[in-house]
Amino acid sequence: MNEVSKNNVFDKSLFGQNFKWGVSTSAYQIEGAHDTGGKGNSIWDKFSEEKGRINNGHHGKITCDFYNRFEDDLKLIKELNIPNFRFSISWSRILPKGIGDVNQEGIDYYNKIIDSCIEKGIEPWITLYHWDLPHELEAKGGWTNRKIIYWFTEYVEICAHAFGDRVKHWMVLNEPMVFTGAGYFLGVHAPGKKGLSNFLPALHHAVLAQAQGIRVLKSIVANAEVGTTISCSHIEPYDSNLRNSLAAKRIDILVNRMFLEPLLGRGYPIIHKKLTAKLNKYILPGDEILMKADFDFIGIQNYTREIVKHSWYTPFLKAKIISADKRSVPITAMNWEIYPESIYNVLKQFGSYAEIKKIIITENGAAFNDTVVDEKVEDFHRKEFLENYLQQVLRARKEGVCVEGYFVWSLLDNFEWSEGFYPRFGIVHVDFETQKRTIKASGAWFKEFLK
Ligand code: GAL
Repeated sequence: MNEVSKNNVFDKSLFGQNFKWGVSTSAYQIEGAHDTGGKGNSIWDKFSEEKGRINNGHHGKITCDFYNRFEDDLKLIKELNIPNFRFSISWSRILPKGIGDVNQEGIDYYNKIIDSCIEKGIEPWITLYHWDLPHELEAKGGWTNRKIIYWFTEYVEICAHAFGDRVKHWMVLNEPMVFTGAGYFLGVHAPGKKGLSNFLPALHHAVLAQAQGIRVLKSIVANAEVGTTISCSHIEPYDSNLRNSLAAKRIDILVNRMFLEPLLGRGYPIIHKKLTAKLNKYILPGDEILMKADFDFIGIQNYTREIVKHSWYTPFLKAKIISADKRSVPITAMNWEIYPESIYNVLKQFGSYAEIKKIIITENGAAFNDTVVDEKVEDFHRKEFLENYLQQVLRARKEGVCVEGYFVWSLLDNFEWSEGFYPRFGIVHVDFETQKRTIKASGAWFKEFLK
């Protein structure tokens, strides 16, 4: 049965007064201005120039032009009654070459955003790394080079000193399994590298950077709430066959536990002994301690569940994911199953770790083929999606899971990585020709919900 508040509506009061409501974005997906304000190239600038990498040859050179329009977009956030705004810093705006000379214009730009948020009563939440590594660092090996821990430390220190007096909520990495998996194993995201010899060092260095970033922020920013974000899906076996159940366990380790458990001080979970032996080659004495850090919250980013079957053909994992369109289930424009209980299940799973004291849903949302008709976008399917997922968040919260916030992905339709502009995730529609913004029905619903 659906939950309703005293006023007979499903609204924010059901989640308690201190629950954090917000909306999420990321720099490369919305800013544009790819070569303005002293910014250096990032791996996504380079990757989207390569032929055949992005659907329809799209790129993020302009995207939502947030760089020039942030003032109006922040006004929209305010208009929608959204009290918290999550955005990311573009590393190559701050350090055009990744290390060395600081670009003051980049610092000034983020200062303007932060100050404008505060002026409007919107709390800024910063993600330090949302996938747009400076290209010059990739030329030195990027995440496969252990030196990245020092490069990242330098960058985090600069941001902490520049913004930490006003920004108290920080996330170190955005979905490290996605940027290492898609970027350094499958080659479908920037920088387009493939194979275990790229993936395993990238994974280990990202695990170390995740903990290091938390330590640096905690040591510089007074009263900071520091966390990191993890892409998580509820994983289920295709049927009760033992082989499929074991395959699902291995995918669960890879997707949900690989970046979390080292941070908690539990070391890497084991998928396959031989894979662990390969990973061990990159682990130096003392790393186990450096992988752990004292964080304040874990950011959970959930969209769907995955159904898994055993497969002889995938090395080590011996598992394959059965895509949603092959299962006759409701799907979004990303071909992700709409399955609200997934968020409940991952909340229960993450909430069961004693070391996790606070969970914030830092992303949840859906892509649909929205169209503007008579200046309106009637995306009732998105409204229903958000409402149904939120019901499941509330269910987990009522059962004692320490979930204390929820951020919608995303404020605006934006550049959806290798998918280009086709999947629209916004609660605000963007016409990419004219840059006109139109609040969708889902946005109007969220505004009412938050009133
Ligand atoms: C996440 C990612 C976002 C956004 C979203 C929708 O994995 O952090 O940048 O693209 O998925 O696909």
